[in-house]
Amino acid sequence: MLSALPGRPLRRAAGVLAGAAAVGLTWSLVEAQAFTVRRVHVPVLPAGADPIRVLHLSDLHLLPRQGRKIGWLRDLEALEPDVVVNTGDNMAHREALPAVLAALEPLLQRPGVFVMGSNDYFSPKPSNPARYLLPDPRRRQDDEQGEERAEDLPGRELGYAFAACGWQDLTNQSGSLEVRGQRLDFIGVDDPHLDRDELPQAWPARAETGDSGTSVPAQEALRIGVAHAPYLRVLRGMQGLGCELVLAGHTHGGQLCLPGYGAVVTNCDLNTGRASGLHPWPGEAPGPGNLWLHVSNGMGTNPYTPVRLACRPSVTLMTLTAPSS
Ligand SMILES: [Fe+2]
Repeated sequence: MLSALPGRPLRRAAGVLAGAAAVGLTWSLVEAQAFTVRRVHVPVLPAGADPIRVLHLSDLHLLPRQGRKIGWLRDLEALEPDVVVNTGDNMAHREALPAVLAALEPLLQRPGVFVMGSNDYFSPKPSNPARYLLPDPRRRQDDEQGEERAEDLPGRELGYAFAACGWQDLTNQSGSLEVRGQRLDFIGVDDPHLDRDELPQAWPARAETGDSGTSVPAQEALRIGVAHAPYLRVLRGMQGLGCELVLAGHTHGGQLCLPGYGAVVTNCDLNTGRASGLHPWPGEAPGPGNLWLHVSNGMGTNPYTPVRLACRPSVTLMTLTAPSS
């Protein structure tokens, strides 16, 4: 009887911990399906400019069987964005291309730009969920023998399909749109997480003509950088080229966050305080010397780790405004 006493509190504590873990796992499975639209205002347009609505999509990680997610994405058309920016990681299955095109079909009728992420080239592999709580310096896609994998997702075909609908491919390229009388110049890179980023050093010489049929001088353009993974070298390069706004994804917002604290990792060298949302960078306050960085926490997960905690899947409707509007 005496020898059993110390074990009872331990067993009780272990039971409480196991129960809490089960509740946490159940909740994180549910939260991974709680699709959300975030809204932010970004004061980057000149005085007097009309607001521009930019829908930022990222990290869909779509599977062909995810009918509810496909329908939810199709309904985003109701937001009536002026421009769509897709920062990659669209697919989580070799046969997901038709599903992605079905999900984005309404939005592909609107002006848009895109870059690719590693999950547009390489199919996901089983991974330890604890990886999201640890730094992950891996950038190459290696197989179990350490050999570099061959691309097995149809990312290039997806890019051709996006481009055929009129979206501009920013894979190590620049582009330009004219929206509501405002010229938007873009510069983008292939996925920095795979070390495929080659930042262009030149902006478009002239704007594509938009609905208005007019052309805006280059010096009046808003310069926007687009990348899948927000590595610091890419942010520095884009800032050096004059970008006032950079859009990225990849972090999944930390995916498994601590309630009341936030992200623990970003899966790149960006600090955890900027794992998702809109922030000045590199300084903490808006103003000269800092650009606006928007990091989407994405719509999906690796299908082998379909969990999110304190980090709902989302897209972001960004309203670009003049500073005082
Ligand atoms: Fe992703």
